[in-house]
Amino acid sequence: MRVLLTGSSGWLGRTLGPALRAAGHRVTGLDVVASPETTIVGSVADRALVRQVIGDHAVEAVIHSAALHKPDIERFDRQAFMDVNVTGTLNLLEAGIAHGVGRFVFTSTTSLMISETIRAGAAGGARRAEWLTEDSPVQPRNIYGITKLAAEQLCRLVHREHGLPVVVLRTSRFFPEADDMAHAIAQADDNTKANELLFRRLTVEDAARAHVLALDRAPDLGFDLFIVSAPPPFSPDDAEVLIADAPAVVARYFPRYAELYARRGWTMFDSIDRVYDPSRATARLGFTCRTTFADVLAALEAETGPRF
Ligand SMILES: NC(=O)c1ccc[n+]([C@@H]2O[C@H](COP(=O)([O-])OP(=O)(O)OC[C@H]3O[C@@H](n4cnc5c(N)ncnc54)[C@H](O)[C@@H]3O)[C@@H](O)[C@H]2O)c1
Repeated sequence: MRVLLTGSSGWLGRTLGPALRAAGHRVTGLDVVASPETTIVGSVADRALVRQVIGDHAVEAVIHSAALHKPDIERFDRQAFMDVNVTGTLNLLEAGIAHGVGRFVFTSTTSLMISETIRAGAAGGARRAEWLTEDSPVQPRNIYGITKLAAEQLCRLVHREHGLPVVVLRTSRFFPEADDMAHAIAQADDNTKANELLFRRLTVEDAARAHVLALDRAPDLGFDLFIVSAPPPFSPDDAEVLIADAPAVVARYFPRYAELYARRGWTMFDSIDRVYDPSRATARLGFTCRTTFADVLAALEAETGPRF
């Protein structure tokens, strides 16, 4: 298929572009930043440009990953988030309808499910970890989450009114930078990412694979929305102990983890405040992350160390 990939110069885009080509697609990359993956340097907020690109390249499918995201909150005002994340998504959806695009995949975020209360976790008085599914009520805590939720709703509206197949992927974190979470600062970067694979992270390769599959499955699905994250070993019954004593729960599922961690000087988070449940993606999209916490332990056992 001829695919328009927005955000092609980004962390995800630089893995997703090659993955799409490996699956046999022809990719046009659109990004405000130039890179070898980007064909056209321009903004999704530029309505005329978006129409022109989709028309000129006879685009059959759109993967919309361009965004201002959480780290950008420091550098951009709220209007910029509205322009890029909301207007940009609307431009792509409407140009897609005008030019007969057959499918649309939108990269959303699990971050929009995290209210201030959930984020406060045990320190805020929470007595159990939040078990989050696609049906959980959402109250985004910042302009990033608010604009991503609005963009999801635009996808839903355009599907309902025009029948465009749209798959929304609420991905958890796959960024390579060090963590900014207060509770995680005690751990080194690889240690933090390993811990997060238990409940709120996936590799960028798995994120890219989910997008390629979503593109393939969109016409069968019509409209659907999935949490995409490495499968947690936990069950909702663990929620109370997870917030009070996460290492005890992890040890129940992985009896050797503490020893393998200790060899490297790693530690587990004291408390886990939320778990993203990706089981709907497994059941309906047929997608499960390849890299899990068990792989991290296997790498520690083999003394090769995990790669994030
Ligand atoms: N990184 C994560 O952990 C994470 C987690 C959940 C969801 N996401 C989502 O995944 C997507 C990709 O994230 P990423 O980590 O690769 O981020 P990134 O910042 O590396 O990539 C985003 C790309 O979008 C581009 N972009 C920004 N404004 C644009 C505009 N107006 N027009 C065209 N391009 C524009 C940027 O130049 C950048 O190359 C985003 O939609 C983000 O919200 C990321």
